[in-house]
Amino acid sequence: MTVDISAGTRLGLARPDLLREHALIGGIWLDSPARIAVANPADGTIIGHVPNMGAGETTRAVDAAVIAQASWAKETGKARGLVLTRWAELIHANAEDLARLMTAEQGKPLAEARGEVAYAASFLEWFAGEARRVTGELLTPHAIDRRLLVRKEPVGVVAAVTPWNFPLAMITRKAAPAFAAGCAMVLKPSELTPLSALALAVLAQEAGLPNGLFSVVTGDAAPIGDVLTGDKRIRKFTFTGSTAVGKMLAARCMGTVKRVSLELGGNAPLIVFDDADLDAAVEGAIASKFRNAGQTCVCANRLLVQSGIYDDFSKKLAEKVGKLVVGPGLVGPTDQGPLIDKRAVEKARTHVADATAGGGRVLIGGEALSDDGNFFAPTVIVDVSPDALLCREETFAPVAGLVRFETEAEAIAMANDTDAGLAAYVFTRDIDRAWRVPEMLQYGMVGLNTGLISTEVAPFGGVKESGMGREGSHHGMDDYLQLKLVCQAISPA
Ligand code: SIN
Repeated sequence: MTVDISAGTRLGLARPDLLREHALIGGIWLDSPARIAVANPADGTIIGHVPNMGAGETTRAVDAAVIAQASWAKETGKARGLVLTRWAELIHANAEDLARLMTAEQGKPLAEARGEVAYAASFLEWFAGEARRVTGELLTPHAIDRRLLVRKEPVGVVAAVTPWNFPLAMITRKAAPAFAAGCAMVLKPSELTPLSALALAVLAQEAGLPNGLFSVVTGDAAPIGDVLTGDKRIRKFTFTGSTAVGKMLAARCMGTVKRVSLELGGNAPLIVFDDADLDAAVEGAIASKFRNAGQTCVCANRLLVQSGIYDDFSKKLAEKVGKLVVGPGLVGPTDQGPLIDKRAVEKARTHVADATAGGGRVLIGGEALSDDGNFFAPTVIVDVSPDALLCREETFAPVAGLVRFETEAEAIAMANDTDAGLAAYVFTRDIDRAWRVPEMLQYGMVGLNTGLISTEVAPFGGVKESGMGREGSHHGMDDYLQLKLVCQAISPA
């Protein structure tokens, strides 16, 4: 296939061939008559097009995955790990292009995109090592004429559906353990950010990932999703995205009893106690709330602040937030890019209006910055009611709503009063409280005196309706491995 490099050249990529406008199905780059335009959320310009694939192409990807997986599973962990290591090296070598591409299609500032490129590579580096550390068990038998061996085997073909907010890292966080374990993967990236996924696939091929092991099927969710949740040859389904969609897809997977892991929405409380280090709490709140313009599942969604520190904290937070530079990531250094689309801007507007109608006061920001670029001002609102939409729904925007509380028990009750249970944050210098409060919080992850908790080394995931399974860390392999018991009868000595 001749690669059309015009779109990549327009974007100023050193390697314009990384901007692929074809889907990778069973090791072959394919186009289709129907195509989807990929737009820059900062200004609406079209960066490229990808094929709008359907059920036929998705099934073809599964066919190829079945064949490729059978051979890949026979490789040693070391051999699989070496391919992942090469893939990570290629990601680092092309980091600037990957970051540019990501900023162009997703909007995050270039500095954040560079950070995400390194974060994406870190999962490949981590699981390259884990590939060698899959160990079974020899159990003490229950009878003298029996021997019990527990093997850990790859689950088989995996389907992955990934979101637009982290166009690279949410893919490698799933693909790295899957390939390390000996699985194949059919990926459906978000239709809003497919170009990063396709660039990743170019580098995967160059790293030596066998044809068919990794397909990237671009297109509308419904026909592709029907195959990924319905084809019985797919033995595991992994999804990062909204709780509503995750529940619906998981229910469909039960028709063929697939293993399912879900990384869904959060409603993270960030609790600041009177005894907190004020500067650290403000820094932590900004790092958590305004990362990726507030568009992460682990962003602080509600800032619960004790009354003794409330005024100082809100003043300092508003001062710092007022200094954040907002603008298109590709044009100059910025702290915050656009939201992903108009719908996201509308939701932010609705949440601000609802908070102020309920008695909230806007200290800074509070409105969209332009009619045509999806930019929303970094916002701080005080005196927000715990019943406001800002506290009940995931806002996914740069809007920090502060709720006042008096006692520790009250803060914990408010924090746990939600169906979500992904991440929570606590700022305190009281050593007893630092143990007590995280233990009481019904969340999968707690940041203690920090607003940043994500790393390839630690398990990422939620409880309650925020999902099931864990990604990253040595636990991240478990979702891609299944246990097999071999119970052997022997003649005893
Ligand atoms: C997410 O928003 O789903 C992922 C955020 C992270 O990995 O830190």
